[in-house]
Amino acid sequence: MHKINVAIDGPSGVGKSSVSDRLAQDNQMIHLDTGAMYRCVALALKENGVSLRDHEAVEHVLNTLKIRFEGSKVFLNGQDVSEKIRTNAISNFTSKVSSLPEVRKKMVALQQEITKDKNYIVDGRDIGTTVLPNAEVKIFLTASPKARAQRRYDEYMMKGIECDYETIYQDIVARDYQDSHREISPLCASEDAYQLDTSDMTINEVVEVIQEIMDKKL
Ligand code: DC
Repeated sequence: MHKINVAIDGPSGVGKSSVSDRLAQDNQMIHLDTGAMYRCVALALKENGVSLRDHEAVEHVLNTLKIRFEGSKVFLNGQDVSEKIRTNAISNFTSKVSSLPEVRKKMVALQQEITKDKNYIVDGRDIGTTVLPNAEVKIFLTASPKARAQRRYDEYMMKGIECDYETIYQDIVARDYQDSHREISPLCASEDAYQLDTSDMTINEVVEVIQEIMDKKL
């Protein structure tokens, strides 16, 4: 079968990860969660007490860190960090870390290396614009901040994680601002991306629309 790469971009909490997981499963492709990679960098910097102004120390951490995916688990230097990288504190710190030029340079190169043989569903913010400008399929998902906050709130409640809707909503608005106003690779749709507003759509409906687009390329 013809191998393709699929880029799925969009803001926090729009459902990129769930949609990418489903598409990867349905098409025997591999889901690369680039947000998890930035989260690992943030965790490594935090655990090593590195100041973001200390560029040498940041470079050192970048050059020594090893990120590995195993199914839905993420390993940082051999340690399972799947849950540690999802806390609110790390989410907010990651947004700052991912605006550092040296971090983006390293992550983009790594993501291009990983996906070079194709067959990847890659989710992130700059995949269609920077990481895979030649991806066979480019999707840009959007949803209102309220719809995204409600989804995240429901997800936390389902997992039994204590949370408060208003805090989640404010975090989403703040992170959207940071992600779309940074100098390098800000969150924006590639001109040739298929834009989909998922505010009133279920995951199944989103998956169906993207699958149809993929089927034309496969
Ligand atoms: O998708 P996520 O919420 O796990 O992403 C975490 C952070 O990493 C978010 O603030 C945006 C940033 N990110 C990025 O700048 N570029 C990517 N390709 C993926 C994530």
